[in-house]
Amino acid sequence: MAGNWKMYKTPAETTQFFEKFRPLVEKSEHCEIVICPPFTNLAAASAAAQGSHIHVGAQNIAWAKEGAFTGEISDAMIRATGATHAIIGHSERRQYFGETDETVLKRTQAALEAGLTPIVCVGERLEEREAGNTEAVLIRQFQGGIAPLTGQQFAKIVIAYEPVWAIGTGKTATPEIAADAHRVIRAQVREKFGKEAADAVRILYGGSVKPDNVKTLMAQPEIDGSLVGGASLDPVSFASIVNF
Ligand code: 13P
Repeated sequence: MAGNWKMYKTPAETTQFFEKFRPLVEKSEHCEIVICPPFTNLAAASAAAQGSHIHVGAQNIAWAKEGAFTGEISDAMIRATGATHAIIGHSERRQYFGETDETVLKRTQAALEAGLTPIVCVGERLEEREAGNTEAVLIRQFQGGIAPLTGQQFAKIVIAYEPVWAIGTGKTATPEIAADAHRVIRAQVREKFGKEAADAVRILYGGSVKPDNVKTLMAQPEIDGSLVGGASLDPVSFASIVNF
């Protein structure tokens, strides 16, 4: 269960969140918990999570080790904060910041080389779904951003399916729609990396996951976890999602 805070909260607000959140998930060992705050809060989040089983992740990662890349943050910088995960290829990065399948692949490889767990996002836009292209888009994103990994690398990634039309809109994909998309992705994994990899890979669903809909989404055997935006900003609400 991963929380993507997007561009919300200061370091002080991050510490306050953890003070409330930690006790609420202390016994929640049925799943991995990851919180992905903005870069500037990673160190505060890692300090506040120390001694708990909560992991901290970045929301992006540079593909280069260092150099003249204004505005980018490298794997070593992320690791130095104590973070262990990185979201890659979120639809907001694709939509507003020119992220492509090719750069998703490069960032994923950089994260893997540094020993960080990539949470690689895929998902179709509304017009793509309405044109009947959902499957083609997912396959294209998989082929460009994920399929070129080696089997060994693939075994370490987490995939998140986030239909763009369901993000921040209050429109959740029905559990059946989400499961259909997960099946498409898992079939691609099976074809490229084999049955064992397809059975083992965790595919998270993201898009308006809330305490009151998480249970029916998670009831789908295809859905292995959630990537939560808005509802992860409040400690009580995210804890009730974790403890669904
Ligand atoms: P919301 O849960 O706010 O719809 O955001 C989903 C998301 O984009 C998580 O990465």
